Amino acid sequence: MKVTVVGAGKYGSTTVQRIAESGACDEVVMVDIVEGLPQGLALDMMQSRSIEGFSTRIVGTNSYDETADSDVCVITAGLPRKPGMSRMDLLETNAKIVGGVTKELATRSPNSVLIVVSNPLDEMTALAAKVSGFPKERVMGQAGMLDTARFKHFVAEELSVDPGDVDAITLGSHGDTMVPVPSQVTVNGKAIGELLSGEKVDELVEKTRDGGAEIVALLKTGSAYYAPSSAAAQMVFAVLKDTKEVMPVCAWVTGEYGISDVYLGVPAKLGAGGVEEVVELPLTDGELSALREAAEAVRSKQADVDQLAG
Ligand code: NAI
Ligand code: 2OP
Repeated sequence: MKVTVVGAGKYGSTTVQRIAESGACDEVVMVDIVEGLPQGLALDMMQSRSIEGFSTRIVGTNSYDETADSDVCVITAGLPRKPGMSRMDLLETNAKIVGGVTKELATRSPNSVLIVVSNPLDEMTALAAKVSGFPKERVMGQAGMLDTARFKHFVAEELSVDPGDVDAITLGSHGDTMVPVPSQVTVNGKAIGELLSGEKVDELVEKTRDGGAEIVALLKTGSAYYAPSSAAAQMVFAVLKDTKEVMPVCAWVTGEYGISDVYLGVPAKLGAGGVEEVVELPLTDGELSALREAAEAVRSKQADVDQLAG
């Protein structure tokens, strides 16, 4: 099996490393416009194979010919945020980049599953779907896995428990209308409401929503990539291994939650065909209306992105 990752920056290169080290596929191709960057990183990672004990081939390139017949393509190309910038400030620049990258990938790997991570995420996913012309179930975005991991982290830290003991999910957009879902949060099976006050839960929800910006402010150049690459790699594994796992991803919604025809963060069953089913969780009225608000917010932006494609 073969995976392509476009963008050999922080997010792309760590994603390649995670996928290659897992041994989940035979070959990972890493593409970037910067000459020498993907080649150098690929050579470095290849030289780690005898120490790490994996045999995946890693190919670094500035062209797309080597990407042909990939099973999964991950798009990380584009600018990251700087302190004070919102993900939306990246819209025009990244739309040109993601549009161009998608065309190159779609012609060479017409049967692949596309996973978009470039920001602003919901809009770039809609754009990749439009430009590729792929069936919507074969195009999805990564955001919910990351935002959920951040939510679990903040709950675990607050209660001094292992993050693996926490079950949680975030839905909605990867932006201001992110919808962390307190009614679904449990710690060792116990509802969060039995362990923390409503105010404390609201505080953790807010921290989750600001999770990306907090790291951008600390790093000063660039944005997070360790947790983001774990999130994208997990989605890649679900598709490669056809696991049917349910994960929060940015998927095309067709009537679920009373929402239609928009790319939105929802729980989805992932398999070889991409998004095989959007799963409906029992939400409170407040959570459901927040999700519908998020859908309307991203719908208006997604309608504009077509004309921005490069
Ligand atoms: P980075 O700046 O380290 O890497 C971006 C790479 O894209 C650079 O190496 C650049 O040369 C390459 N690139 C630019 N135009 C290209 C093109 N036309 N073709 C091929 N490669 C091209 O940025 P980083 O940290 O890797 O972030 C990448 C993207 O992921 C950003 O848009 C960032 O906002 C987004 N992101 C999304 C997250 C999510 O949860 N969805 C989380 C973290 C970052
Ligand atoms: C993040 O959430 C900036 O989208 C990026 O870390």
